[in-house]
Amino acid sequence: MRIDVITVLPELLDSPINHSIVKRARNKRLADIYVHNLRDYGKGNYKQIDDYAFGGGAGMVMMIEPIFEIIEKLKSERSYDEIIYVTPDGEQFKQSTANHLSTFENIIILCGHYKGVDHRVRERLVTKEISIGDYVLSGGELAAAVIIDTIVRIIPGAISDETSALTDSFQDNLLSPPVYTRPPEFNGWKVPDILLSGNHKLIDKWNEEQAFERTQRLRPDLLE
Ligand code: ADE
Repeated sequence: MRIDVITVLPELLDSPINHSIVKRARNKRLADIYVHNLRDYGKGNYKQIDDYAFGGGAGMVMMIEPIFEIIEKLKSERSYDEIIYVTPDGEQFKQSTANHLSTFENIIILCGHYKGVDHRVRERLVTKEISIGDYVLSGGELAAAVIIDTIVRIIPGAISDETSALTDSFQDNLLSPPVYTRPPEFNGWKVPDILLSGNHKLIDKWNEEQAFERTQRLRPDLLE
């Protein structure tokens, strides 16, 4: 899949897209990620991309022209399944959203800054609005990084152990069971005997029970 990110702070995406699983997926061409600096599409000598809000009030608003220009340019090159604006008042991002987005060919993620974008961008250009949680970030870049990471890691082939993405917490609306590694005993604190038993049928059953118990205790809303 191809992901185009539009931002005024491309540096904020540098680390998340150049490490670990996302880096590997990019190297394997499972995900092509392009980060575009909106400033390059700014107006006039000062490459202006924001202006005062009509009607007053503190904070700058991102102008429609540069955003329109880059989106039109990208759309002239290929068709996009979704043009996403990340914003705290968007629909809540969930694993199911990521699963759906990961099946797409091409998406755009537009990051807001300052007081956000001219509302006509949201009404006319954007096809989906996503929030990663009920809190306000300084800009959309960290939200875009979260969305990209979540989508890319579940593209088949991105994780070496193909099944491991499927056993993540939330993939079946259950939290993951606890995991342990060597040593089997530390400071007198023991790993549950069953995990050392070698009986995979019983271990699977134990994992399922633990997942259910943890979900019931920590996130009962997921079972509703
Ligand atoms: N931009 C600022 N805060 C955000 C949030 N919580 N989710 C998505 N985009 C944002």
